[in-house]
Amino acid sequence: MPPKITPAVRRRLEKAARAAAKSSYSPYSKFRVGAAVLCGSGKIYTGANVENASYGLANCAERTAIFQAAASGERSIRCVVIFTPTTAPTMPCGACRQVINEFGPQAAIVSVCDSAERIETTLDQLLPAAFGPQNLQR
Ligand code: THU
Repeated sequence: MPPKITPAVRRRLEKAARAAAKSSYSPYSKFRVGAAVLCGSGKIYTGANVENASYGLANCAERTAIFQAAASGERSIRCVVIFTPTTAPTMPCGACRQVINEFGPQAAIVSVCDSAERIETTLDQLLPAAFGPQNLQR
């Protein structure tokens, strides 16, 4: 079961993800993405996608936010909210699903956009039978 997140916290996360998209560095794709991550401590970390002239080095908004959280000492993720200024919500890519799994195998995933359309799911639904830290125990 994903952890319960109050409507007030949910609103804060959505607002933070929307604000984060404004810092997106995406001159090549012109596809702005913002992410907000709620951690076990209750703190929220944000991130945006950061692209590079060497295209393959782009970092997604979700991973920017998660690496910020992990580098600040966080070790669990309760919820990831993704915002794109589009008419349809955007789902996290495969690489980001794997990175979310490391700290939030059951995290709630919420995707919002500029229309009323939204997706609410959980990481284990998006990445079933994931490879994770447990596989390295011997
Ligand atoms: N992108 C994200 O930041 N998050 C996603 O969930 C999907 C894709 C970024 C990567 C790249 O900068 C741009 O969107 C186009 O792929």
